[in-house]
Amino acid sequence: MYRIHNYLVLGLAALLAAVACKSTSVKSAIAPDPELEAKVEKTLKGMDLDTKIGQMVQLNINLITDGDALDEDMMEALFGRWKIGSILNVFHGTAQTRERTAELISEIQAASMKYLGIPTIYGLDMIHGATYLTDGTFFPQEVNIAATFDTENAANMGRVMAYETRAAMCPWIFSPVMDLGRDPRWPRQWESYGEDSYVQAKMAVAETEAIQGSDPNSIGNGNVAACIKHYMAYGAPFTGKDRTPAILTEHEMREKYFRPFKECVEAGALSLMVNSASINGIPTHANKTLLTGWLKEGLNWDGMVVTDWADVNNLFTREHIAADRKEALALAVNAGIDMVMDPYDTLCCADLKAAVQEKMIPMSRIDDAVRRVLRLKYRLGLFDNPVWDVSAYDKFGSDEFVAQARKAALESEVLLKNDGVLPIRKGSRILVTGPCGNSVRTLNGGWSYTWQGTEAAEYVDKYNTIYEALVNKFGASNVSYVPGLEFEPERFSWQEEKNVDIAAAAAAARRADVVVCCLGENSYCETPGNIDDLNLSANQKALLKAVAASGKPVVLVLNEGRPRIIGDVEPLANAVVDVMLPGNYGGDALAELLSGDANFSGKLPFTYPRHINSLHTYDYKVSENVGTMAGEYNYDAVMDVQWPFGFGLSYTTYEYSAFKCSKGSFGADDVLDFQITVSNTGTVAGKEPVLLYSSDIIASMVPDVKRLRAFATVELAPGESKVVELSIPAKELSFVGQDGKWHLEKGAFRFAAGGCSVEADCLETTIW
Ligand code: BGC
Repeated sequence: MYRIHNYLVLGLAALLAAVACKSTSVKSAIAPDPELEAKVEKTLKGMDLDTKIGQMVQLNINLITDGDALDEDMMEALFGRWKIGSILNVFHGTAQTRERTAELISEIQAASMKYLGIPTIYGLDMIHGATYLTDGTFFPQEVNIAATFDTENAANMGRVMAYETRAAMCPWIFSPVMDLGRDPRWPRQWESYGEDSYVQAKMAVAETEAIQGSDPNSIGNGNVAACIKHYMAYGAPFTGKDRTPAILTEHEMREKYFRPFKECVEAGALSLMVNSASINGIPTHANKTLLTGWLKEGLNWDGMVVTDWADVNNLFTREHIAADRKEALALAVNAGIDMVMDPYDTLCCADLKAAVQEKMIPMSRIDDAVRRVLRLKYRLGLFDNPVWDVSAYDKFGSDEFVAQARKAALESEVLLKNDGVLPIRKGSRILVTGPCGNSVRTLNGGWSYTWQGTEAAEYVDKYNTIYEALVNKFGASNVSYVPGLEFEPERFSWQEEKNVDIAAAAAAARRADVVVCCLGENSYCETPGNIDDLNLSANQKALLKAVAASGKPVVLVLNEGRPRIIGDVEPLANAVVDVMLPGNYGGDALAELLSGDANFSGKLPFTYPRHINSLHTYDYKVSENVGTMAGEYNYDAVMDVQWPFGFGLSYTTYEYSAFKCSKGSFGADDVLDFQITVSNTGTVAGKEPVLLYSSDIIASMVPDVKRLRAFATVELAPGESKVVELSIPAKELSFVGQDGKWHLEKGAFRFAAGGCSVEADCLETTIW
């Protein structure tokens, strides 16, 4: 009897789940688990409207904080009266130890169980490691991981950040970020895996799978739920300023910006956060086509969509597409929002309820949203284990984790120029100068201990700045530090510079054998990172000029979240290394590399511009780079970038040869297999990222000049050669046409890697 009853419940649950996802012919992104669905249905059935509304709301921890403790009365109000489903953020706005974090979340969870009987889901911004824990293992930021062109680094980061977050009792992180850093003016460029959608997709999938483990229906003890963000095209504002509008064609969105989200969803990502800005006039939080159409129905995805910070309110206060909160809530929830991150107050609860009662939102949509919230909590096992024993997490901060973070940092720093000054000879007298020369804060960037990466000095004492790492490597008597200028340490004043004493640095340069000039940006995050000029600051350029005037060789180290323009001063440097934001171990990594004890292997995952009015991406159109046209017309569309995407030097040289494609001609269902021999023709060992590009020679829509289609790394001893194998499914060579469909067109394709190229013909046009 019981069995039959159970069977019926499961069958009904599966049916409801299918209806909830408006099942199309598309396979479910995550295979539904009938038992879990039955539990979701049962819990949903027992909920009244207030509870359902509350479960759709996420609030900031400071609403339940009283000094150094949690406020029991407020917790009673939030969970008992308002039935709030989720809490986010770090206590007091700054990293806590993992023990304290675990204590706080346990207390909050206990209150949720006591007053509501439903577990809360706690969410934290763990961005490049467990970056909201004082003792977490920090990896480089995503832009650096992209520069390694090795998905193992993304997987390592995902695994470590999940484990360490779980060890602090938190089940949910707002990572990975996948906005595509295609506009260097945008202040969040460093949070994503570079400008290319293929690299972004492969890295983000590796990270997501590592964060969540092998079964998205049952998140394990060492894993947490990922929240992929910010859906989508958040990184494409036409002003270059954060949270401002994007204007994009639908085919560009589908082909480039949607891809990483689609692949992560197909890989089992359990939740997603929405782009705070608007695309083509529609704020993404109110965009039903993107949220419900492309994402939930299009991918048959049963995961949960959370807003970004206060973004429902922004629909009426900032975007002016709604008259008040109630209307904004109706727009957002009807578009597909399941959880409202409304950090400041509970006002949205009453308005959401009113919107339902006034039939502005159908009950079926509320039920669907709540199902998604509950499903996530069940998938995390929170109903059975709202808290767990964190004392067993003995790998927290382990040597193994640190070694992985160090490796990622080392492989991520990119050598862009070297006239032979590097490696620096042991025994050289080294002057370190510049505002980034003695700062762990600048190595980490934003989302490090605090939102803006400020006020972290007390936690980073044990990590080495560039100066300290060079002292360790070359000896204290050989290395000195004269800043030349300093950054203002205050939050939000990151662009201000003080204590400018360029003459002192120039004088010190004259006494040195080599100058390591560390320029770039202080840490920032989100809108406070907006800038009006992509040029590196005037003071910093003046510092570079002054130390170069000493006649001593200058190694320019760029420590920055986005490529600040240095076109006019770059010729003054004998060597240039872009360390970007390599994290707590970035100084040590740089010392290894500058001394030649390790070899560079990173390559730029974005295009480094030379001029502010000439911002390009590597997948540009031929017409962006045509030089002169016939006749009198001087066509000045010329690509003149500082360094191209995929550029990076090393202490050795590589030669590519014997490039072969398995097929001279192909159809849409074929897979093209490539082989290329890579030889280390220099005198030191190295690791080389091999990048395979394709070009669609003639297409019915202006083709991108080239696209990265596969990558792999190869390690080679001096004199050694290896055959590298890469594959491209022919469908990868398609583009999205004006009709929103994928087109693989008949005709020739060129494939290129490391200066070698080969052609193959597509025999027929296929559209799907
Ligand atoms: C950011 C998100 C972040 C959220 C929660 C927002 O301001 O845009 O990336 O996850 O805050 O802290």
